[in-house]
Amino acid sequence: MFFRQLLAKDATLSYFLGCGSCHVGVAVDPVLGDEDWFIEQAAKQDVKITHVIDTHVHADHYSGGRALAERTGAAYCLHEANAKRVKFGFAPLVDGQRIDVGNVFVDVVHTPGHTPDSLCLVVTDKRRTEAPWFVLTGDTLFVGSVGRPDLAGQEQAMAGELYDTLQGKLMTLPAEVELYPGHTSGSACGAGLSGKPMSTIGFEKRWNPMLSMTRDAFVAALTAGIPPRPAEMDRMVAFNLGN
Ligand SMILES: [Fe+2]
Repeated sequence: MFFRQLLAKDATLSYFLGCGSCHVGVAVDPVLGDEDWFIEQAAKQDVKITHVIDTHVHADHYSGGRALAERTGAAYCLHEANAKRVKFGFAPLVDGQRIDVGNVFVDVVHTPGHTPDSLCLVVTDKRRTEAPWFVLTGDTLFVGSVGRPDLAGQEQAMAGELYDTLQGKLMTLPAEVELYPGHTSGSACGAGLSGKPMSTIGFEKRWNPMLSMTRDAFVAALTAGIPPRPAEMDRMVAFNLGN
């Protein structure tokens, strides 16, 4: 398999991964303006981009997902929860769905909390093993932190959902699974993020302060430390919804 991480605008991390032998690749969370980077990477790897996935409808940057999908003929994918809000056609992803990318599997896990439509992508290289190798966590789990719960409103309820997602879904992955988040330090999507752009499930389980709390303490801590809302948030969300 091949795997690339791109440090994009506003401390956003984008990803491009896939199978070189089968000439197929998937772009994750591209930022508007970075379409050429993905197209150049695809040419270098000699792969066709088959899927462009946004891990959620972003509130802190303009997504390049639709533009990249249109330019490459890839399917633009979002979680199915967006069916009624989004004003354009997209391929709806559901929890438990497996996307075959040549010798690579991308398994969709619905992980509500940061937003109701958030998803994580568990990636396996079947040439190595059928066990998962790494997870793209979007804005659900960061290195040293977790996603803010308030951008869709109802921050208390969303913080509780995020706790259930983290403990019930991500923390059940094997400790050696690598974690690649949707942001690094400097992002408006969370507080206290590390500047290191990857970690492992086991390291975060042991050292991420948000993962060793009771549910009540987690909700209280997360809703007490909410950063200011991203500038231009309403315009960004409207653009990303196609309004
Ligand atoms: Fe986000």
